[in-house]
Amino acid sequence: MPRLSDVTRGRLLYGGDYNPEQWPEEVWHEDVRLMKEAGVNSVTLGVFSWSKLEPRPGERDFGWLDRLMDLMHDNGVGVVLATPTASPPPWMGHLHPDTLPRDADGRTEWWGGRQHFSHSSATYRRYAAALTEDLAARYAGHPALTLWHINNEYCTYDWGDEAADRFRAWLRHRYGSLDALNTAWGSAFWSQGYGDWAEVLPPRHAHYLKNPTQVLDFKRFTSDMLLECYTAERDIVRRHTPHLPVTTNFMPLWAGQDAWRWSEEEDVVSVDLYPDPRDPDGPQAGALVQDMTRSQARGPWMLMEQAAGPVNWRRVNHPKPRGLNRLWSLQAVARGADAVCYFQWRQSRQGAEKFHSGMVGHAGERGRTYQEIKELGADLARIAPHVAGGQVTADVAVLHDWHSWWAGDQEARPSREVDYPEVLGAWHRALWGAGLTTDFAHPGHDLTGYRLVVVPQLYLLTDRAVDNLLEYVRGGGTLVCGFLTGVADQDDRVRPGGMDARLRELFGIRTLHEWWPLEPGETAECGGGLRGTLWSEELEPDGTADETVPYRGGELDGLPAVLRKGRAWYVSTLPEPEALRALLGRAAAGAGVRPVLDGLPDGVEAVRRGELLFLLNHGREPVTAEVPGTHHDLLTETTVTDRVTLGRYGVAVLKP
Ligand code: GLA
Repeated sequence: MPRLSDVTRGRLLYGGDYNPEQWPEEVWHEDVRLMKEAGVNSVTLGVFSWSKLEPRPGERDFGWLDRLMDLMHDNGVGVVLATPTASPPPWMGHLHPDTLPRDADGRTEWWGGRQHFSHSSATYRRYAAALTEDLAARYAGHPALTLWHINNEYCTYDWGDEAADRFRAWLRHRYGSLDALNTAWGSAFWSQGYGDWAEVLPPRHAHYLKNPTQVLDFKRFTSDMLLECYTAERDIVRRHTPHLPVTTNFMPLWAGQDAWRWSEEEDVVSVDLYPDPRDPDGPQAGALVQDMTRSQARGPWMLMEQAAGPVNWRRVNHPKPRGLNRLWSLQAVARGADAVCYFQWRQSRQGAEKFHSGMVGHAGERGRTYQEIKELGADLARIAPHVAGGQVTADVAVLHDWHSWWAGDQEARPSREVDYPEVLGAWHRALWGAGLTTDFAHPGHDLTGYRLVVVPQLYLLTDRAVDNLLEYVRGGGTLVCGFLTGVADQDDRVRPGGMDARLRELFGIRTLHEWWPLEPGETAECGGGLRGTLWSEELEPDGTADETVPYRGGELDGLPAVLRKGRAWYVSTLPEPEALRALLGRAAAGAGVRPVLDGLPDGVEAVRRGELLFLLNHGREPVTAEVPGTHHDLLTETTVTDRVTLGRYGVAVLKP
């Protein structure tokens, strides 16, 4: 199987989406000069080029792309070639309205933007396959071609009629019979029993609350349909170039795709990452996505897109202060990226993204953005021989599952204040703040390699996943579970007792009497100074726990907020950040997991990748970090002994 290392060959990829079709050809030559000056060695061509490549149905215009492929090759820049299927040309919707998706209210998504394709449309799929076939045949032997990029950020939904047909077929395959579907969907409730497959629909606009299992299955179906679109194109390009890897770029922690499932179908896992430069949690939000992508890739991964400066899609779009682009790029490398790429190479002058930064901004080569891009290119070239291909290892795994998210984040639940990504983020932030390197894993994965497994919240757990957790603890692992875990089975059916009985036994809980969700800003006082937020629970212990932290005061006074039975912990609230960090720090220490480095100054992140130690100062003030021993700093090419000073947003990459 071809891999990312076949593309990088000991380098770190550096570059970005390149949209030269937006520019006159003389600009292409300036682009190449600036790319070479900045050390750019990879560009992604063709992402949204469908109407250029197929100006009229069935016609092909490859001339411009031929010239670009040659130009890139002549200048030593590799090409990640995208299939342009994320944005069909206007003629397609005009001639074939069946290619356009419908939303839940029956409204059509028209052309004029992008991603206006129905994943279920046979017509769309036919055109996409035909163009992919011709693109792959034409460039299979081109020396510039290094990697295939299928579509772009698959993210569409469709509630239309053709999607409804495919949804029924998907359900027939999943359930086999209408009886099984009726059972899984609990259709006895509100007179929803189905007597004919033709009656089954996607969860369209309804008078009141929709059937939650129908909604859950629709999300599963959508992820699977998009995956079918991806694998269809992937299989075509593979046939032409079996030696080249294939990827598609994920959005970070995007709700619409089961990325565990998807990453199994990719040779290279890539992600687009745009933390807000003003967000104080930006560094950790980035780390979370980097950790998750590395875990999906099971090794080096590709940062396919980031912004050199501001994006254009937040309410207020902040540029990156000097040094931040370098810091966050090197953070991605520290956490396993072998490619640092951007959307996009040259900032557009027209179109919806003209105020989105590029590596070359409107200010051109004299602009600070490009100047910093050039400096970063030099840094990456300096460290590449030591870092490319290196592995990041973690003793801690955070469990995450899309199906659980889809089931848990619906209407009509105990509290709409509980936002799954926020809970996941809070737990990861606590581990990040404690200096612990974490992987992510699916609840069904082999967990035996981890000393500590953390479950921020898995509302839905299949029987097999519960088995897996129990086996993990039996085998000597330490498990920490957050609230609302193990509530529902694979059909979103609440388990007897409100929480899986075997898990209750694992933690020493006899009865879960009630959930007591908290109002925004409300806290639940607990023993030892711990304060809970968001949620609390009325738990009756069975007396087998080794340790409990009680709620203090209020209705739950004296009942356990936290239980530890052997190596299994249950946390029935969301502790405030410091308390969660301390709690996880304790659990980690008990499991024999140490932070990467002790005694780091605030705001300094330490990550090991292979034999290298990355130190990243996320603060604007210089700091000094103690690093026992003598190291070589690959960035400054100096020797450091026992301590290293990091300037504002400074980074050191230390080799023993
Ligand atoms: C996504 C897309 C790009 C671009 C950027 C803007 O990542 O893939 O085409 O729209 O967002 O941030």
